[in-house]
Amino acid sequence: MQDRMAQRGRLAGKTAIVTGAAGGIGRATVEAFLREGAQVVAMDLTAPLARIAFEGDGVIRIACDLADRAAIQAATDEAVSKLGGLDILVASGALKGGTGNFIDLTDADWDRYVDVNLTGTFLACRAAARAMVAGGKGGRIITIGSVNSFLSEPEAAAYVAAKGGVAMLTRAMAVDLAKYGILANMIAPGPVDVTGNNTGYSEPKLAGEVRDEVALGRPGLPQEVATAAVFLAEAGSSFITGSTITIDGGMSAMIFGGMRGR
Ligand SMILES: NC(=O)c1ccc[n+]([C@@H]2O[C@H](COP(=O)([O-])OP(=O)(O)OC[C@H]3O[C@@H](n4cnc5c(N)ncnc54)[C@H](O)[C@@H]3O)[C@@H](O)[C@H]2O)c1
Repeated sequence: MQDRMAQRGRLAGKTAIVTGAAGGIGRATVEAFLREGAQVVAMDLTAPLARIAFEGDGVIRIACDLADRAAIQAATDEAVSKLGGLDILVASGALKGGTGNFIDLTDADWDRYVDVNLTGTFLACRAAARAMVAGGKGGRIITIGSVNSFLSEPEAAAYVAAKGGVAMLTRAMAVDLAKYGILANMIAPGPVDVTGNNTGYSEPKLAGEVRDEVALGRPGLPQEVATAAVFLAEAGSSFITGSTITIDGGMSAMIFGGMRGR
């Protein structure tokens, strides 16, 4: 276990839960938080959590299925008890991918995406907010939405609708939790290569799309998202709530990117 008081960094002495911690962005966030001196609980499904190795010591792992309502509260209670309180939640856990054309979208796929990506995010945030209120020191809730929280794309209606919900959930939390000193903000990533070796976007068609549609001409790195999570968690961002930080290399600033002839 880390000695919290001995840690230095922008999050020294802070406690955090990161959901989706075994995923690309979640893992980078855990590692960035550790480097900044926070004490971190990593949450994810049992198998990915068992497989993942974190750079840094003292990560507490707690398995939790975001589709299991009772499990989320129990996992948060366990985390808060092990951490001795809770200052920060990063809600990164989600199902990704498309579900086909809207006309063929099944009830089961709709439910799966909404249950994990929207309801699971809500439950993790509510459990964290209650712990923060009980702690009486305020806190920071950081949701990981997507550019799909405000822009659609083909064959992803369930994902897009759930991510749109996360955007408004975050604003609603910012409004209701302000009186407790809890700030809530969303990070909206564009394409982020979570494979760690740039293979995620090496498939020629996808690589071409990213070159055309992202102003910077490349996918982002998980660390480039984690850096914003640190910023939203640290003391200096104390007047930012209900906001969105878009990290998409300029993708959503642009239309007709394919005409640039890169
Ligand atoms: N990578 C991107 O291009 C990108 C773009 C926009 C938004 N995002 C968002 O960023 C967040 C992190 O994505 P990532 O790219 O790191 O993806 P990832 O697939 O690497 O990580 C997601 C994690 O969520 C976990 N998860 C899935 N279902 C779960 C469940 N039922 N219970 C608990 N955990 C569950 C997975 O096990 C995985 O570790 C997600 O919310 C995603 O929608 C990612």
